[in-house]
Amino acid sequence: MAGITSALLLLVLSTIVWQQTVRGGCVPEYAFYPPSYSNNALHDTFLDIQQSLNVLIEQQEAFNDTSFALEVSSSKETLFKFYHTMLRATKDSPTETINGSTMFRIESNTKLFTALGILKQEALGHLDLDDSILRYVQDLEADKTSFDWERITIRSLLAHMTGLPDTLADDDLLLLLANPTEYGLPPVSDKTLSTLPPCGVFSNYTEPCTEQDLLQSLPQYGPVLPPQVEPSYSNIGYDLLGLVISNVTGMNYRDYISSSILQPLGLNNTSFTPPAQSAAKLPYPSAWSQETGLGGLYSSSSDMILFLRYCLLNHDNITPSLDWFSPKAYSAGQHSFLGYTWEIFRTSSILPDSERVVTFVTKGGGGTEYYSYSIILPAYDLVVFTAAAGELPALNDVFAAVRDKLVLGAERVAQQDLKTTYAGTYSALGCRNSSSLCSQNPPGLNSSITLAQSSSRSLSISAWISNSTDALQALLSVSSSQSGQTGNVYFQFTPMFRAISGPSSDGSNRTGEIWRFINVIDDTEVPTNATNVWDDYCASNLDPLRYGGVSVNEVVFWRDTETGLIEEIQIPAFQVAMGREKA
Ligand SMILES: *[C@@H]1O[C@H](CO)[C@@H](O)[C@H](O)[C@H]1NC(C)=O
Ligand SMILES: *[C@@H]1O[C@H](CO)[C@@H](O)[C@H](O)[C@H]1NC(C)=O
Ligand SMILES: *[C@@H]1O[C@H](CO)[C@@H](O)[C@H](O)[C@H]1NC(C)=O
Ligand SMILES: *[C@@H]1O[C@H](CO)[C@@H](O)[C@H](O)[C@H]1NC(C)=O
Ligand SMILES: *[C@@H]1O[C@H](CO)[C@@H](O)[C@H](O)[C@H]1NC(C)=O
Ligand SMILES: *[C@@H]1O[C@H](CO)[C@@H](O)[C@H](O)[C@H]1NC(C)=O
Ligand SMILES: *[C@@H]1O[C@H](CO)[C@@H](O)[C@H](O)[C@H]1NC(C)=O
Ligand SMILES: *[C@@H]1O[C@H](CO)[C@@H](O)[C@H](O)[C@H]1NC(C)=O
Ligand SMILES: *[C@@H]1O[C@H](CO)[C@@H](O)[C@H](O)[C@H]1NC(C)=O
Ligand SMILES: *[C@@H]1O[C@H](CO)[C@@H](O)[C@H](O)[C@H]1NC(C)=O
Ligand SMILES: *[C@@H]1O[C@H](CO)[C@@H](O)[C@H](O)[C@H]1NC(C)=O
Repeated sequence: MAGITSALLLLVLSTIVWQQTVRGGCVPEYAFYPPSYSNNALHDTFLDIQQSLNVLIEQQEAFNDTSFALEVSSSKETLFKFYHTMLRATKDSPTETINGSTMFRIESNTKLFTALGILKQEALGHLDLDDSILRYVQDLEADKTSFDWERITIRSLLAHMTGLPDTLADDDLLLLLANPTEYGLPPVSDKTLSTLPPCGVFSNYTEPCTEQDLLQSLPQYGPVLPPQVEPSYSNIGYDLLGLVISNVTGMNYRDYISSSILQPLGLNNTSFTPPAQSAAKLPYPSAWSQETGLGGLYSSSSDMILFLRYCLLNHDNITPSLDWFSPKAYSAGQHSFLGYTWEIFRTSSILPDSERVVTFVTKGGGGTEYYSYSIILPAYDLVVFTAAAGELPALNDVFAAVRDKLVLGAERVAQQDLKTTYAGTYSALGCRNSSSLCSQNPPGLNSSITLAQSSSRSLSISAWISNSTDALQALLSVSSSQSGQTGNVYFQFTPMFRAISGPSSDGSNRTGEIWRFINVIDDTEVPTNATNVWDDYCASNLDPLRYGGVSVNEVVFWRDTETGLIEEIQIPAFQVAMGREKA
């Protein structure tokens, strides 16, 4: 009796967690393994994107003065390229034809390289993310009155959680406005002028800012916020990370980034020194690129794609301390987060039939005349890089023409794969050529399961008979009655990213994937209103219920070695294996 009571209790607790889900707000983020894009699978999507870009260029005057490069790639291969060369050339910007090797200033995308450099040093044990900056940049100790350096850690610097000011000698209206008094601003005294750092904007970008300029001017600026309170973007923070890198490696920041990242990845068109005018689109040469960790790199779209592929493939194994794509702080708004320099955006508004969230891991960069975006879609195994020389609105239009269409196209490919590879009816009787798993079923066992694919529910269970019993109805009604909710509950599959191998019926080696099915409430018909705003309050538990110590919702999908299709399903808690029935 005690056993049953605690099992019921467990069920009550888990279903409460499971079913606080209205309008499908807690749909698992992963409904499939990241798809592959063989055989031109995204052909129509790219045709559509290309047409949109052509229309933009034709209709928007900004593109007469803006060059851009755009590339889309999976983790394996480049899938789409589009280059546009500005029509109007200026004296300093000869109209070269833009291609994948054309170099752009990537501005703040440089911070990705700085952050990666720090994480690599952390993985080597040369620094700790929670160390104070003082440990590596002792000179800061001279000024303990303006800043709480003890609490400014490497981690907080990476995620802009330091409260440090943004820039040292950039974005200053004093030099950006021809006549500041026309804006109601008072004149700046000569005394004040003499205290400003003699570099960056204050030198009309003829002098780069040095470490000495930084250390001297910081106390004068003072903090924006105390450390660790809320994020505020800080270029200065990345300059300090550049100094940390110099300190722990004993190398110049730029030499370290080159030897530890650019060279090993073969990024031959990426450098801190301005390339020849013919290799780039440089409206004017500038000393701004000489600064440290914040924004000095020149790179090409083909190189940045190689770099982003590396990020996509390695984000979870750069250091055991963290996943590089994980968020660290809330940004403003409901959907934005700051990571270890990644700007993370999550939305459920793109997929028309589902409340499933799509995560964009991004980094934007922008300075005078140069703008760039890096975008990674981990769930779809896609990366995008686009850079422009010219006007920012033009790049925003390019970005907008790509991002949602790409998600919708990739989603179609993934759903089609769920349909052909996984969906279907599997039964104990379908195990005609018994594999070792199937041969463990009792003879004549009446068990079968039907997996359905749809754009709203992805892969879900539409029928399930176990030993002549309607297991689907039984499990669904237990879940629903225990949670006290009467929504339209269904079981949706989500992959566990664990592969196993085992013998197939002909004795050869086959691979299996472990998935789980999770309660989701499909209330897409119910309009949202003020009383159900809490319905997408989600806790994650992929292992809510066991039977005899075995997870009830674990399913192993076994692949046919030849066709690549799922040939057999094993449900460990039900001690059953079922073969795919011929369509
Ligand atoms: C771009 O410049 C060309 C040549 O000056 C002009 O004919 C065309 O109308 C311009 N395009 C747009 C969209 O303004
Ligand atoms: C890109 O253009 C440059 C200059 O026109 C040329 O040297 C280079 O080979 C081109 N690269 C590619 C990948 O086409
Ligand atoms: C790193 O910083 C520490 C503390 O400021 C200092 O003792 C050490 O000499 C520095 N190392 C290098 C290589 O700059
Ligand atoms: C700054 O440099 C630009 C380009 O080199 C030049 O046109 C401008 O006159 C300079 N401004 C000042 C205030 O010196
Ligand atoms: C970069 O150059 C090196 C040495 O010339 C070469 O081995 C490598 O393949 C190049 N990388 C790319 C992406 O072309
Ligand atoms: C870009 O990289 C390619 C391949 O390594 C190389 O041949 C070319 O010279 C590089 N271009 C520039 C401008 O560095
Ligand atoms: C069972 O296996 C035999 C020999 O391997 C094969 O000829 C037959 O087509 C298979 N039957 C089914 C239903 O897969
Ligand atoms: C099938 O159900 C019967 C009772 O209805 C039970 O005796 C038997 O052990 C079950 N077999 C399996 C494999 O679950
Ligand atoms: C299997 O069980 C289901 C549900 O009890 C029943 O409808 C069906 O007829 C059974 N099939 C066989 C072959 O016994
Ligand atoms: C079966 O294949 C997997 C993955 O390809 C491999 O890791 C495993 O060693 C293989 N097992 C045997 C017995 O060949
Ligand atoms: C708002 O939602 C609640 C719970 O879903 C429902 O009971 C109520 O009728 C709804 N009210 C309106 C005005 O739609």
